[in-house]
Amino acid sequence: MRLAVCSSKGGVGKTATAANLAAVLAGLGPTLVIDADPQESLGRSFGVTANAADSLAAVLDPDSETTAAEAIRAEVAPGLSLLPAHPSLDAIGNVLAQQGGLITSLRRALRPIAADYAHVVIDTHGDLGNLTVAAIATADAVLAVYTSDPGSALGVVRTAAFLNTHRTFENSDAVFLGAACANWDATGAAARDVAAALASTNLPTFEARIPTSRRVPSATLAKRPVVLAYPNSAVAQAYRELTDEVLTRYAAGTTTGTGTATGAG
Ligand SMILES: Nc1ncnc2c1ncn2[C@@H]1O[C@H](COP(=O)(O)OP(=O)(O)OP(=O)(O)O)[C@@H](O)[C@H]1O
Ligand SMILES: [Mg+2]
Repeated sequence: MRLAVCSSKGGVGKTATAANLAAVLAGLGPTLVIDADPQESLGRSFGVTANAADSLAAVLDPDSETTAAEAIRAEVAPGLSLLPAHPSLDAIGNVLAQQGGLITSLRRALRPIAADYAHVVIDTHGDLGNLTVAAIATADAVLAVYTSDPGSALGVVRTAAFLNTHRTFENSDAVFLGAACANWDATGAAARDVAAALASTNLPTFEARIPTSRRVPSATLAKRPVVLAYPNSAVAQAYRELTDEVLTRYAAGTTTGTGTATGAG
């Protein structure tokens, strides 16, 4: 599976979700997690910071010879490799958009190493911009993330529409697996509003919801995803359940080839 974690809204939990799903998937087979966001938060959640020259920015830079294999950090967690970002990635995305080659840039860069990984997870920037286009063109599945914040339901709808547009132009054949709540405040009325708003769209949602937990930011400080830092916590269990659902949907969605995964609800 090549999974892009997306939302048109920032701060909804994309990076925490990508890091934790990747750490769980890595227990099932060799996994690569890619930071396609110039904010470079994903790397920091594993204690990795990169220079421009040994990051995804160099890998995608048309003027650099750096290969993906050279920029990947192996075993940042058991079974997990990381391709880190750097703030200069933003400018590289703009260059690729102007010069051509943006859409296929990441897919081409990963081609030599694709067979090395059972799963690839891509964390994206919350703007559906250039680098997210490159990410969904690499992915065969997209997961949208929302929170208990009412505005985040719109972020899911925009992400699904964005993917549909790119499918129309054949920039991507990725399946929209569904929307996952990455920060669920079960006691808040807002959370129920968001869930109801999403239910009315007919977009698939995941049953597993990641509860709001102070352990998620604590784990970032500890430079390990919460599934590794606090494996016995309820929030870690929720990430494992979400991963199971993602894999089940992926198997169903890619065999039916519908574009929106089956099992909506
Ligand atoms: N389940 C959760 N419980 C509590 N805090 C959470 C949870 N999930 C994420 N957070 C916190 O919310 C903040 C935003 O999360 P995160 O960085 O993963 O979002 P993002 O969508 O990647 O943001 P950006 O758009 O800036 O990349 C972080 O401080 C993170 O620790
Ligand atoms: Mg992020």
